Amino acid sequence: MTEETISKLTEEISALKASTPADAEALRIKYLSKKGIITALFADFKLMPPEEKRVFGKKLNDLKNFATEKITGLKEMAETSDIVDSSLDLTRTASPMPLGTRHPLSIVRNEIISIFSRLGFNIAEGPEIEDDWHVFSSLNFAPDHPARDMQDTFFIFRNPEVLLRTHTSSVQTRVMERSKPPIRIICPGRVYRNEAISARAHCFFHQVEALYVDKNVSFADLRQTLLYFAREMFGPETKIRLRPSFFPFTEPSAEMDISCNLCGGKGCGFCKHTGWVEILGCGMVDPNVLDACGIDSCVYSGFALGMGIERITNLKYQVKDLRMFSENDRRFLEEFTSAR
Ligand code: DAH
Repeated sequence: MTEETISKLTEEISALKASTPADAEALRIKYLSKKGIITALFADFKLMPPEEKRVFGKKLNDLKNFATEKITGLKEMAETSDIVDSSLDLTRTASPMPLGTRHPLSIVRNEIISIFSRLGFNIAEGPEIEDDWHVFSSLNFAPDHPARDMQDTFFIFRNPEVLLRTHTSSVQTRVMERSKPPIRIICPGRVYRNEAISARAHCFFHQVEALYVDKNVSFADLRQTLLYFAREMFGPETKIRLRPSFFPFTEPSAEMDISCNLCGGKGCGFCKHTGWVEILGCGMVDPNVLDACGIDSCVYSGFALGMGIERITNLKYQVKDLRMFSENDRRFLEEFTSAR
């Protein structure tokens, strides 16, 4: 044995490779087993004269330790890469994650907001837990108006003063109380009514309210706004029709129908063969409401309108059962993937 034998072996061992645990084991046998190359060197070592032993003892031990470490390392690496599966390409891009969908009511609410914001309306919000003043009294509901009835309204702790709002018209009052005209707001939100849950009624649903107050706001402004909204929402061919109605907070009041968007107004099962479907309530803000909110009704006038988001969504997407909106059935929700 010479020093060269040892340095050559060191080089050789440092270049070793093993792609499977069996390869690594073969290397261990080749260098370190009883009949291995390094073991043989130790046998030679025993026969060396003492002065040579002093030179080679440490070198040989270092070689053996180096070989043991290297081969154990190769074995461990081969074992773990076996588990990871060497066909795995860690540089590949990950498979795409399925995107969530917006809730149909959110899609329609956002569309309504976007239509009105193009006309200069800003979003306003108010609390869902309200008081009698904002939901009823300020809006000209007589003290004995049936809408205040326990049958319709959820009162909190049976306190007639604290209740869940039954319509988003309460936000009108909140905004008018704290701001000066011109006011042009759109108020989306959830409302509550004490109704038995069925395909056609729910104890909570969603509304969008719009309010415009300024000098010289007329019924013609209301009508034109409604026509713009209907055509943006349901298509440029859509016709509208206003029918007289009654709401305590508007005078005159009207209900708006649009030409049935399923049959184009010819008459079908959906519009009960009338060619028209009702979509919202509206009117000129009653002077009593303006005055109650601190706005001089001799100077200012306004129009208001309110619609159910569920109703508009049903018209757009023909959802037959109101309960679908709150059941979180993914099969239903995923149908709106492309409508985002
Ligand atoms: N608040 C009414 C309701 O819940 C809807 C409504 C009708 C709102 C006429 C209005 C309006 O602003 O002018 O049925």
